[in-house]
Amino acid sequence: MGSKPYFDDIAQRWDTVRQSFFSDRVREVALARADVRPGLLAADVGAGTGFLTEAMLRRGLRVIAVDQSQAMLKELVRRLGHPEGVECRTGEAESLPLADAEVDRVFANMYLHHVESPPAAVREMARVLRPGGTLVLTDADEHSHEFLRTEQHDRWLGFKREDVRRWFEEAGLEDVVVDCVGENCCSKSQGTGESAAISIFVAVGRKARCCA
Ligand SMILES: C[S@@+](CC[C@H](N)C(=O)[O-])C[C@H]1O[C@@H](n2cnc3c(N)ncnc32)[C@H](O)[C@@H]1O
Repeated sequence: MGSKPYFDDIAQRWDTVRQSFFSDRVREVALARADVRPGLLAADVGAGTGFLTEAMLRRGLRVIAVDQSQAMLKELVRRLGHPEGVECRTGEAESLPLADAEVDRVFANMYLHHVESPPAAVREMARVLRPGGTLVLTDADEHSHEFLRTEQHDRWLGFKREDVRRWFEEAGLEDVVVDCVGENCCSKSQGTGESAAISIFVAVGRKARCCA
């Protein structure tokens, strides 16, 4: 089963919960890897309540925030005060509600471990990037904390960095780098009290400027 009911239900509490998982450093690292400039158009995929969107707006980007959960997007709009420069679109990983080459940058934080097919989701994010545009993903390294499946509806227990790199390259992205953010995603099981502190990676790739 997908995670939509979970995120619909947690939407109004997500921002507080999220702050206990990881800090603002994650979005600072993500944006620093993408040469963001005022006026660029970015997609925040799996935007949730706007953790990345908020930081992009501060830097003068325009943002299309995409999520499967209308409740999360509604909370984004409420939390950020009906911001100018943001368009919310409801949609799914396999068929993002974005045209081919519509955006200059794509970001996704803690989204990939929820989707059914991570390689298909990476291909879809590459599709909507303009040639020369950059995809930046931040997510969890591979781990063994099963409680995250049952309690937080994670589909994947993180990823091997070599798999992420291969998915980027297979999606036609170049100059791929998968690196440490230098921060852990921390959480504790409500059931057993088991603690998780999972390292976070940042994956970056650029769409080729022209096709042969
Ligand atoms: C862990 S939250 C992260 C939210 C936000 N990026 C942040 O850092 O706070 C994952 C988000 O991805 C969305 N999501 C999960 N699976 C999705 C899918 N298959 N298609 C679209 N959105 C999805 C969820 O609704 C949720 O808002």
